[in-house]
Amino acid sequence: MPRHVVALQCTVCGRAAEPTPAALTCPSCGESGILDVVYDYDRVRRDLTRASLAACPDYSMWRYLPLLPCEPSTPRPNLRVGWTPLYRADGYARALGLRNVYVKDDGQNPTGSLKDRASAVGVVKAREAGAATVACSSTGNAGSSLAGNATAAGLRSVIFVPERAPQGKLAQLLLFGATVVMVKGDYEAAFRLSAEAIAKWDWYNRNAGLNPYLVEGKKTVALEIAEQLGWAVPDWVAVSVGDGCTVAGVGKGFADVHIAGLTDRVPRILGVQAAGCAPLYRAFQASVERFTYEPGNTLADSIAVNVPRNPLKALRAVRASGGDMVTVTDDEILAAMRTLGKTTGVLAEPAAAAAFAGLAKAAATGLIRPEEVAVGIVTGNGLKDVRSSLVAAGEPIHIEPDLSELERALDGALER
Ligand SMILES: Cc1ncc(COP(=O)(O)O)c(C=O)c1O
Ligand SMILES: [Zn+2]
Repeated sequence: MPRHVVALQCTVCGRAAEPTPAALTCPSCGESGILDVVYDYDRVRRDLTRASLAACPDYSMWRYLPLLPCEPSTPRPNLRVGWTPLYRADGYARALGLRNVYVKDDGQNPTGSLKDRASAVGVVKAREAGAATVACSSTGNAGSSLAGNATAAGLRSVIFVPERAPQGKLAQLLLFGATVVMVKGDYEAAFRLSAEAIAKWDWYNRNAGLNPYLVEGKKTVALEIAEQLGWAVPDWVAVSVGDGCTVAGVGKGFADVHIAGLTDRVPRILGVQAAGCAPLYRAFQASVERFTYEPGNTLADSIAVNVPRNPLKALRAVRASGGDMVTVTDDEILAAMRTLGKTTGVLAEPAAAAAFAGLAKAAATGLIRPEEVAVGIVTGNGLKDVRSSLVAAGEPIHIEPDLSELERALDGALER
C-alpha cells in the first residue's frame, strides 16, 4: 500500500476496504459501492508543502505523488501527463461579460484529453497488480488515453467503444495498438459487454466509474489549477459531466489541497451536462442520488452517458462545494466552441466546450457575478472530433486563384 493511503472507503455504506492494486467496488455493496481513497493527511501535510512544490523539478501530474495512490517505485508510462497550461483569457471573459476567466487546456495532454491523468494512474495500478492487459469501455477519450498510456508502459489494451465514437478517437485507439471492439449500440451497451469480458478474461479494469484510483488521477487537474494560481482559489470551476468521475476528481482535488493546508477554501463547482443527456443534472435538481437511464441525443458524444457510473461522488462533489449544475443545448455548445476558439486560440471538442457553454449560461443568468474568478477546463482537444468542429466552424472563403476576386471576397471579412 502506498505510504500516504490509509484505506478505501465505500461511498454507500462507509465500510473500509483493503487498498489492493486491483480493488474495485465495495465487497458488501457490489457495483454501486464505489470506493474512495482515504489519505493520511498528516503525512501529506508533511510531505507536500508550497515550498516542496516550488522546488519540485517534475512538471507533470506526478509532482503530487503524496496525494496519489501509487507506489513511488512503480514504473510510470513514458509520456508527459499533466502540468497543462492555465491561460488568463481576457478576450473570452469580455465575451461573457466577466472580468476574470482562466482556461485550463487539458487538450494538451499526450493523447489530447484530461483522461490521460486517470489512465496514467490506471496503468500504474495495473502494473502493481501484475496485469499484462488493461481494458475499459469508453466514449472514446478514456479508451484512447488508456491505449496510449498502456503501450507507453509496455501493456496490452482492449477497448470497447460505442459505434458512434468519432473517427479521430478511433484512429488514436488503433494506432496505439489497442484491440478495439466497436459495439453496436450506445455507451451503456459497450460498458456492459466490457464488464462481462473483463470478468471472463481477468483483464485489469480501468472502467472509470468502478475503479477507485482513477478519480485520484483526474484530481491532479485541480491541484495544478490551485498551484498555477499561486494557491489563490478561484470562485468557480466549470467542468463537463458524463459518468461524473471528472467532476468528482475536480472536487476531490480542491478538497485535498484545502485539507492539506495549501489553500484556504474550495471553489464552487459548476457541473455541466448536455441537455440531450442529463441524468446527473436531473438527480442534482431533484436533490436525490437516484438517476434513470436516458437515451443520449447530443453531439457532445463524450458526455452522452446514459447511466452515470459515478453518481454519488459527482453529486456530492458539486453539493459539497456549494456549486451548481446546468444543462446546455448543442447550439450553445457549438457557439462556445466558436467563442473559445476565436478569443483564445484553444480548440475544444464538443464535450469539453459544454463546460464553457455552461460558463456563458451562468454568467448570463448572474449565477457567476462579473467580478468573480472562473476557470473552465478544456477536457478534450477539438481535433479529436473534426466532424463536429467543422459543424461549429462554418465555411472558408471558396475562390479562384485571382487577387481581384480575393479583394471583393475579403471586403468586410477581415473585420469579422
Ligand atoms: C472531453 C470530455 N469531457 C468531459 C468528460 C466527462 O467525464 P466523466 O465521464 O468522467 O464525467 C469526458 C468523458 O469521456 C470527456 O471525454
Ligand atoms: Zn459498501
